[in-house]
Amino acid sequence: MRAMSLRPILLHPDPRLKAVAKPVAQIDEGLRRLAQDMLDTMYDAPGIGLAAPQVGVMSRLIVMDCAKGDEPAQPMVLVNPEVTWTSEEKAPYEEGCLSIPEHFADVTRPREVEVRWTDLDGQSQTQRFDGLWAVCVQHEIDHLNGKLFIDYLGPIKRGMITRKMEKLKRDIARDGPAPKGHEAARL
Ligand code: NI
Repeated sequence: MRAMSLRPILLHPDPRLKAVAKPVAQIDEGLRRLAQDMLDTMYDAPGIGLAAPQVGVMSRLIVMDCAKGDEPAQPMVLVNPEVTWTSEEKAPYEEGCLSIPEHFADVTRPREVEVRWTDLDGQSQTQRFDGLWAVCVQHEIDHLNGKLFIDYLGPIKRGMITRKMEKLKRDIARDGPAPKGHEAARL
C-alpha cells in the first residue's frame, strides 16, 4: 500500500503565490510523486484543483478533479498546460481558493477553453473544457503565472481579503490551524 503524503498548502499573502512557475523539463519519478502528493493534498483539503506553487514548488504542474459528488473520481494531472483557445462567451462563477480559505467572489472568465498539456507518460494532450472544469483549469493555470482569483477583484475588496488573510496567518502562527471548513468549489 502506498503511504499518503500530504504537503502543506501556502496561504496568501506569500511571494511564491505571486511568482511565475518554470516549465517542467523532464517527467520523472520525482514529478509523478509530486503529482500524487498534490492529488492527495487536494482531496484531503478538500478542493477540486491545486497548482504546484501552492505547495511551494515553482513548476508548471496542476492537478484537478471536478467530478460531481455522485460521479466517479476523475483525477487529472496537467504538465506545462497552455490555453490554446477561449470562447467569446464569458460566464461568472463564485470562486474560492485553497490558499485563500473562507473567501469567495464572482470571477468572470471565458465559458469554454481548449488546453494543451503533457501527461505523466510524456504524451501531448488537447482537450476542451466547459462548466466547472473550465473555471478550474483557468484558475489553476493562473496560479502558474502568479495570479490569484482576488486579482480579478477591485482594489478595495482585494485589500480587505488580504488584510483578513494576514490576520488569519498571525492567528495560525499563534494558535495552530483552525478546523477545516466544508465549502465546495475551493480551487
Ligand atoms: Ni487557487
